[in-house]
Amino acid sequence: ITDQQLNAAGHLTIGGCDALELAQEFGTPLVVYDVQQIRQQIRAFKRVFEENNVDYAVSYASKAFAAIAMYQVVAAEGGHADVVSGGELYTALKAGFPMTNVSFHGNNKSREELVMAVDHHVGTIMIDNFHEIDLLAAVLEERNATINVMLRITPGISAHTNKYIQTGQVDSKFGFDLQSGQADEALAKVLANPRMKMKGLHAHIGSQIFELAGFEGVAKKLVEVAAHWQEKFAYQAEVINVGGGFGIRYVKDDHPLAPEEFVDAIIKAIKNEIEQTGLSMPAIWIEPGRSIAGPAGYNLYTVGSRKDVPGLKPYVTVDGGMGDNIRPALYEAQYETVLARDPQAKTIEHVRLAGKYCESGDILSQDQALPATKPGDVLAMLDTGAYGYSMASNYNRNPRPAVVFAENDKAQVVIKRETLEDLIRLDEPYQQ
Ligand code: LLP
Repeated sequence: ITDQQLNAAGHLTIGGCDALELAQEFGTPLVVYDVQQIRQQIRAFKRVFEENNVDYAVSYASKAFAAIAMYQVVAAEGGHADVVSGGELYTALKAGFPMTNVSFHGNNKSREELVMAVDHHVGTIMIDNFHEIDLLAAVLEERNATINVMLRITPGISAHTNKYIQTGQVDSKFGFDLQSGQADEALAKVLANPRMKMKGLHAHIGSQIFELAGFEGVAKKLVEVAAHWQEKFAYQAEVINVGGGFGIRYVKDDHPLAPEEFVDAIIKAIKNEIEQTGLSMPAIWIEPGRSIAGPAGYNLYTVGSRKDVPGLKPYVTVDGGMGDNIRPALYEAQYETVLARDPQAKTIEHVRLAGKYCESGDILSQDQALPATKPGDVLAMLDTGAYGYSMASNYNRNPRPAVVFAENDKAQVVIKRETLEDLIRLDEPYQQ
């Protein structure tokens, strides 16, 4: 937290709004986004492409955080969006997001989802498997429609990240295998279908990646496949989509490149490879999720109970936990947390920041340095904007928090806090 983020009272501000006042006005747990930060990151990505003079799309991977307001901001910044379900697609539609700028991903899209995509003229279907080629062909026939498609391949590159969020290794559920000729077979099928307009190829190697090598490797691999397709099928790819996965800094020990620096290196790697093949330069698409939504998000919690264990770090418990951020429990993900009224206060103790859920694993941080805290203090967990609210649950029948967008000293609720009534909305009494 820099001095610029403190107001005259020394409190943390988000989008110019005092974090304590936000907690007061909207209650906790609360998810707050600094909207300018979302905009700045999208702009930084776009700038890199423009400086390198290549056609591009910055397609926000909306699984990181999907809400009508978020799609509105992305659209306003000229970003594209990548959706992975009928639910995300529906939200984008309701936000008025331009459907031509939507890509639809997923390794088991249902018939209903494909119908929805075709009927609403979604820009690109990212085809993942043979079943989907047939299903989409049938839907297009039935609706008498055509659609742009791209093929997702499995590049056979292992990214150094948590094994649950690796996706590019050979043994992955996603995409067409290269070695066995599946990708060629898929291309032949797509090219043979006049209702499918083949735009290019896609790969995604994983998430929260820090090393450049994996991205350069995937860039090289995709150009190799494009060159092979040109040679074997006389098919020239218009788009190379390298996916997302640019790592962000969660804790002090993380030292990733800036997200746009990863992209700069990818662009250069693709240009370099293309020169050696004689292909014409394709457009380059990226799909960042975490790097756009993550750093912009804050989770505000109120401190409640405390348990001191002789010789061990105390448990300081907040009013949220794994229901609003499951990442620590699921991936051992780490975050930094500060005291909202004095974010730069001196450390007086290392604590375990516990959640309120009935589960021992519900620990938001195993080791958080904090000043002295007391019940009622507001804590701000930083960089929670990606895969936090979007993976939230009603475990223990806790209502999900509200989400607020803060910008230019103003705050607006963009997702309401769930009420107890919401929790039983779908329940039906059992007639026994
Ligand atoms: N494109 C594709 C095809 C993807 O599968 C993903 C993420 C992205 C783009 C965006 O990746 P990002 O830039 O956000 O790293 N729940 C996990 C992350 C799962 C990522 C799944 N796919 C987490 O909380 O870390």
